[in-house]
Amino acid sequence: MGINLIWAEAANGVIGKDGQMPWHSHEDMVHFRRLTTGHPIIMGWKTFCSLGQRPLPNRENIVLTHHRLDDIKGIKPVSFPQVQQLVSDQSSDYFVIGGASVYQQLLSLASRLYRTIIQDDYAGDKKMPPIDYDQWQLLDSQTVAASKEGEPDCIFQVWQRLDEK
Ligand SMILES: NC(=O)c1ccc[n+]([C@@H]2O[C@H](COP(=O)([O-])OP(=O)(O)OC[C@H]3O[C@@H](n4cnc5c(N)ncnc54)[C@H](OP(=O)(O)O)[C@@H]3O)[C@@H](O)[C@H]2O)c1
Repeated sequence: MGINLIWAEAANGVIGKDGQMPWHSHEDMVHFRRLTTGHPIIMGWKTFCSLGQRPLPNRENIVLTHHRLDDIKGIKPVSFPQVQQLVSDQSSDYFVIGGASVYQQLLSLASRLYRTIIQDDYAGDKKMPPIDYDQWQLLDSQTVAASKEGEPDCIFQVWQRLDEK
């Protein structure tokens, strides 16, 4: 139980462009769904917008925002102190699903990183915040070829915080 960050970054570190992800990867979507289904997910308001303001099914959708959003069904709108309170109980495996600002704020609380490296450079306006990988141990790394034409190959990595072994 703990906090996991999960994201996909291009070879040049880009994770977003104009409020969306700049690539389409069937393999990464399947990987994301397999890991996060059944677990609470935490995201920023802009990432929720990038999903068309529709909660992802079979997951508790926790959305960080400064505004009250009582009228949006299927999500739990929260402030940052509420997120800190939620994750402090360590009773669930939380998956932080973005975007850049939320990864930045929750990295220090994470014990595991699920990092997809998209095997190409992309233009974009959001990059993954810097991570000091000397503080993390690589548990697994698998390269997966794209099954669909025109889509990028992926590397799926799992990192564990060194003092959490
Ligand atoms: N490649 C990937 O794996 C991946 C994953 C997710 C997202 N993305 C991309 O990342 C981009 C979005 O990232 P982003 O950094 O611009 O936005 P974001 O982190 O998704 O959302 C930012 C918003 O979240 C709320 N928020 C953040 N911190 C808060 C806090 N401490 N307290 C209260 N509310 C807080 C605020 O919403 P309010 O304005 O409502 O207060 C803020 O405007 C998009 O391009 C998206 O496609 C990529």
